[in-house]
Amino acid sequence: METRILKTTGETLVSDLIVVREILEKGGLVAFPTETVYGLGGNAFDPEASRKIYAAKGRPSDNPLIVHIGDESALFDLVKEIPAKARLLMDAFWPGPLTIILNKNGRVPDETTGGLSTVAVRMPSHPFANAMLKALPFPVAAPSANRSGRPSTTKASHVIEDLTGRVDLIIDGGDVPIGVESTIVDCTEQIPVLLRPGFITLSDLEAVVGTVRTDPAIKRENLINHTVGIEKPRAPGMKYRHYAPKAKLLILNGSAENVSSAINSRIAALLRDGAEKQMPGVEASGEKQDGPEKPPVKIGVLSCDENRSLYDERAVVLSAGSRKDAESIAHNLFSVLRQFDDSEVDLIFSEDFTEIDIGTAIMNRLLKAAGGAIKEAKEIQNDSDWM
Ligand code: TXA
Ligand code: MG
Repeated sequence: METRILKTTGETLVSDLIVVREILEKGGLVAFPTETVYGLGGNAFDPEASRKIYAAKGRPSDNPLIVHIGDESALFDLVKEIPAKARLLMDAFWPGPLTIILNKNGRVPDETTGGLSTVAVRMPSHPFANAMLKALPFPVAAPSANRSGRPSTTKASHVIEDLTGRVDLIIDGGDVPIGVESTIVDCTEQIPVLLRPGFITLSDLEAVVGTVRTDPAIKRENLINHTVGIEKPRAPGMKYRHYAPKAKLLILNGSAENVSSAINSRIAALLRDGAEKQMPGVEASGEKQDGPEKPPVKIGVLSCDENRSLYDERAVVLSAGSRKDAESIAHNLFSVLRQFDDSEVDLIFSEDFTEIDIGTAIMNRLLKAAGGAIKEAKEIQNDSDWM
């Protein structure tokens, strides 16, 4: 499939919206910017379009799609009722980075909701997305515009890398403002339940509707090492390893000094072992090595502006932003994970981040990218503690 790329700058052009509408009406796919991440959109009422979305992403079809709308009147085509607390949340946060789960009505195809009796609805505030949705006669089902399992896309270049040849059109709207996906809250029960943390925080939600429960499956203790009571998340997508860079990622918890010294000594040991293995005639684990010699490992470190200089200069150290500005870290996180892929590192160490406000969303994505691998830096004394 040929993929067209359309750049939008500033004002949204009617001619661009006409191109988008023509493609979507024919059941085609359009990737577009939202304020959170780029979305991969198709007509939410067209089961064939939803099937194409799953195929383009390589996504399991039990993982439902979020349905995007441009104004509230579109809700009546999607849901059975709007509970009072959902209404309050819509009034407070729409348009914006909040997705609300409601009981769906018969018009939404099972292909869009992964067979669930509920539907996830979101009204984005991004000017292009909002204008596009207002101009369309149907809502748009859109997961994040990345190949399944990879970090979400926050720049058009990420979308071009993942989806060229797989979608009809990519709208290049530049960098997205937020950088992590929407907060998801389930309003089908009396007490709303947070299913995915995001830019709108638990305390933001509670300020509007009172108590909000958190799905146990997304709590830190259940994301770590996948050891403690493996809970089945209520947002089906949260069960998959996600956001993952190609290299293995390990998070270190602790003070900046403990984290950098643990990482530096590990880097020194790994590079020494790699260099020894490269020397001809050297026996590795008692056996002569055959075949091509393994090069020394290339190691990445995900750090913050303040800590970058603390690390071994042989490592690829990338900054996610400043600790004083957690939103900058949210904004850069996926992009930095993709940069590690571009630099072809074999292993990534990451600092951890404070789980306050948007920090909860940052650590949720980072822990998922790491497959739950996190260690206490101060407990690492020797090589065996890394195993
Ligand atoms: O910010 C966002 O929400 C972005 C932009 C494009 O809008 N979209 C996004 O979609 O992150 P996606 O498909 O990557 O993630 C949607 C999440 C998945 O974890 C999915 O399982 C969950 O929402 N979800 C969708 N419908 C659901 C439902 N009816 N009940 C529970 N979880 C649902
Ligand atoms: Mg996604």
